[in-house]
Amino acid sequence: MTSPSELLSLAVDIALEAGELAHRRRTEGVTIAATKSALADIVTEADREVETLVRDRIAAARPDDGFLGEEGGAGRGSTGITWVVDPIDGTVNYAYGIPAWAVSIAAVEVADGDGEPDTATWTALAGVVYNPVVGELFRASRGGGAWLGEHRLHVNDEVGPAGALLATGFGYDPATHAAALEQQARIMPIARDIRRIGAASLDIAYVAAGRLDGYYERGLQPWDHAAATLLVTEAGGVAAGAPGGAPGREMTIVAGPGLFPRLDALIDY
Ligand code: IPD
Repeated sequence: MTSPSELLSLAVDIALEAGELAHRRRTEGVTIAATKSALADIVTEADREVETLVRDRIAAARPDDGFLGEEGGAGRGSTGITWVVDPIDGTVNYAYGIPAWAVSIAAVEVADGDGEPDTATWTALAGVVYNPVVGELFRASRGGGAWLGEHRLHVNDEVGPAGALLATGFGYDPATHAAALEQQARIMPIARDIRRIGAASLDIAYVAAGRLDGYYERGLQPWDHAAATLLVTEAGGVAAGAPGGAPGREMTIVAGPGLFPRLDALIDY
């Protein structure tokens, strides 16, 4: 087993290289390679190319670790460490040239050694969320704090729901959209405002950085939140899912410890 800081250092190196590749491909022009579960659920050639690069770099450095990537890359390891990767989180923004997308890389310790990574039982050890367009690389290691450059991150926990700037997303399952919109209608009059940035890893990283007070979304996949939720907990915040559970598909909520229960109480499960 390697220390969280060593895993983080590898994740940072790979994220920088992956981010530069994605950024270069963006300037060369983007084509949507496929539409997956919904019109908003797309994949570009760059998503696939970047995931391959990340996977190759991890395999070269740590051949016995597991891998779980958004674009289908998966493999069990034998070390108890699995890498959970979204090569381009915010692919719709990426495809349309909106500079809010990120490479997200996490190293998690899997409870049953070489089994399937399960958000409910894994322990995140290192995480990086990198937006190369604005040059912001958020990083955290377990017990080592969350950082943006030399600046240590702390959640903002000085507001209640009334003053809170929140963010959310709508997930890809059309069956959940009506309920999600009703939820926004209920929360809007209480909060300062609600953002829909379009990249869950950045939404969550911004909570860690105190730029947003809280975030919630139904339908996230492990690669959307694995790195960013470690940023939040290392920045003094709370990241959870459906009542008592871990962040996951059913719900992901992040906020400071004071706001969290009040935000959680506003969410319809
Ligand atoms: C998506 C984005 C979006 C969120 C979706 C995610 P992708 O990730 O993070 O903001 O609302 O739930 O799946 O597909 O662009 O990597």
